[in-house]
Amino acid sequence: MKAIAVFPSRREVKLIEQEPPTPRAPTDVKLRMLDVGVCGTDREICAFQYGTPPAGSDHLVIGHESLGEVVEVGPAVSRVKPGDLVITMVRRPCPHADCVACRAGRQDFCFTGDFSERGIKGLDGFMTETVVDDERYMHVVPRTLRDVAVLVEPLTIAEKALIQVGQVQQRLPWACGVDPRTQRRFRHRAVVLGAGPVGLLGAMALVAADFDTSVYSREPAPNAKSELLTAIGAHYFSASETPIDRLAEQVGNIDLVYEATGASSIAFQMMEAIGTNGVFVFTGVPGRKAPIEVDTDVIMRNLVLKNQVVFGTVNAGQEAFEAAIRDLTVFQQRWPAAVQALITGRYPIEAYRDLLLGPAQGIKNVLTFA
Ligand code: BGC
Repeated sequence: MKAIAVFPSRREVKLIEQEPPTPRAPTDVKLRMLDVGVCGTDREICAFQYGTPPAGSDHLVIGHESLGEVVEVGPAVSRVKPGDLVITMVRRPCPHADCVACRAGRQDFCFTGDFSERGIKGLDGFMTETVVDDERYMHVVPRTLRDVAVLVEPLTIAEKALIQVGQVQQRLPWACGVDPRTQRRFRHRAVVLGAGPVGLLGAMALVAADFDTSVYSREPAPNAKSELLTAIGAHYFSASETPIDRLAEQVGNIDLVYEATGASSIAFQMMEAIGTNGVFVFTGVPGRKAPIEVDTDVIMRNLVLKNQVVFGTVNAGQEAFEAAIRDLTVFQQRWPAAVQALITGRYPIEAYRDLLLGPAQGIKNVLTFA
């Protein structure tokens, strides 16, 4: 079968032929891959900045944003059946007995760093025709999501962030509701930094959770993304028209910043704009660049005097996958055209070179295997 593989020591990315995997454990499930999304992490692996082949192998099959169809199940499989559409999770637990996170099935919070990730770290990924994995890592998606279900994995990032925001904000009276003085409905205000796939999916999740949502990005409006955001009821602010220090004047008290750019300079400027009791969530992984100047006194004063919280989040657990499947169903019902517009191209496996090594373009590009 065909697979897209990276050979870090030879600095090569190529289409290879390899033996299809065979199910071994009674809980193993065999999948026919349908769609695999291309993301920034894949492009970084193909630029040899990231990514580790399985032990003893000279190459890593990449791809971690997947949609597959079950073709065969082991005798002890109970969660999926042939014909089901499934999303397979990315991270697998570390082997250490004292990693309480991994031992509790929460490898997305692994303490040791010895976890593995399919298509990223130590395990082959999903840009191939057939995949075998344990049923415990699979989540069934309804057939109605067939065309967009490949967006589930990138959406899990926002879902894990939102679950944590809810937990963090239990520290204060935070629920939305009606202002007793004005009788007006009160909504929390969220700013999403960046309008790539993670930012746009994050904006959809925030609007669906009833946040008054604004997206802050580089491109001047109107553009395809600003129109998509307006269509779902979010606001769009362009950095070319609104400097960050003027953003709060327009938005009001910024209760939540969801960072989805991976650009630390803009993120730290935005940190100065978080409001009282606000939360700032980092999801991007910046490459190492030259140091920048940051007004640390302002940031530290605000953190203390305004009760702010800053946290980072990576990967996602079972709960976030389930939430992403539920939310994508909601998005599909509320904004079918906008959800569809996130997938800007579908390509056969042979087009991998342009998608992974060429200039980044579109929103979410997908390789199709069936
Ligand atoms: C993936 C995560 C993974 C992270 C770090 C992201 O692109 O979506 O599942 O944990 O990269 O490797």
